[in-house]
Amino acid sequence: MGLRRKFNIVMSSVFLVGFVAAAAIAQRLLEENARQQAVREARLLLDTATALRTSMVEHVSPYLAAVNHEVFLPHSVPAFAATETIRELRKRHADYSYKEATLNPTNPRNRTADWEADVVQQFRQHPAHEEIIGERPTAGRRSLYIAKPIRVNHTACLQCHGTPSTAPASLLRLYGHANGFGWQPGEIVGAQIVNVPMDVPLTQAARLLTPFLLTLAAVFVFVFIALNLMMGWLILRPIRRMAQSADRLSTGDFTEPEFSEQGPHEVALLGSAFNRMRRSLEKAMEILRQTPRR
Ligand code: HEC
Repeated sequence: MGLRRKFNIVMSSVFLVGFVAAAAIAQRLLEENARQQAVREARLLLDTATALRTSMVEHVSPYLAAVNHEVFLPHSVPAFAATETIRELRKRHADYSYKEATLNPTNPRNRTADWEADVVQQFRQHPAHEEIIGERPTAGRRSLYIAKPIRVNHTACLQCHGTPSTAPASLLRLYGHANGFGWQPGEIVGAQIVNVPMDVPLTQAARLLTPFLLTLAAVFVFVFIALNLMMGWLILRPIRRMAQSADRLSTGDFTEPEFSEQGPHEVALLGSAFNRMRRSLEKAMEILRQTPRR
């Protein structure tokens, strides 16, 4: 097998392995980046809902407490306000969702679905966990969720979530006696859960991967051609000429011009060594020719 062929086989194998490894690493990095983008979006939505809740508690709910005794206004409840506001947002961004998923809710629409109940149970078993991030398919598409635990962190909560007997009559008239009671101080009763779609960042990642791989392949092809040309010019051509010359010298033909001692260091060294050997050989042949035969 020729030197060039061997060199090309080794080089192609190295390039192929490098290409596959680079493609795998790039895909992982881009996917991770897409996930981080989805996490940022989800966190922003969750923080918006939490800010809304805080703002309600500080600026709205206290003023409506008196009215609530007459007619209960669900809008005065932070959980309701946050859920409704994000529901409004979903008219434009249908793939995004927010839920105050609760095991025993006052409003049945807030009841945990099966997978949400698992998330809440995880928080209950590991009270130190402040956040759970996960992925799950929704309607055949990948989506990411972030969940934060909801704690009964204030005794005031028990006024409406303790027992029906202490709850405002107006609340009972609207929501009944059956749900959303029996919560304990400090208990984790549910979780704020935000879902965001992952297809947009994932499609973007896939779109970036193709040009990256094409550029990488183009660089490989360019390097391959350049190395082949260099090898031909700098190594193979002088070696081939030397071989032909040695061939002719071996038949006693010294008409061939000497090698140029220019070019890359090693080839020039070989050329000058070859020239010296040729001169010595020529002299030796001369002496041989002049020596009288006995
Ligand atoms: C004035 C009564 C009242 C107080 C005080 C109150 N809540 Fe509620 N809460 C409600 C009502 C009514 C709902 C149902 C709102 C709706 O229709 O979505 C609700 C809903 C919730 C929900 C959503 C799940 C569900 O039960 O439907 C959570 C979570 C929640 N409250 C937590 C709390 C916490 C924590 C506190 C204390 C910081 C608190 N609430 C204080 C009346 C109250």
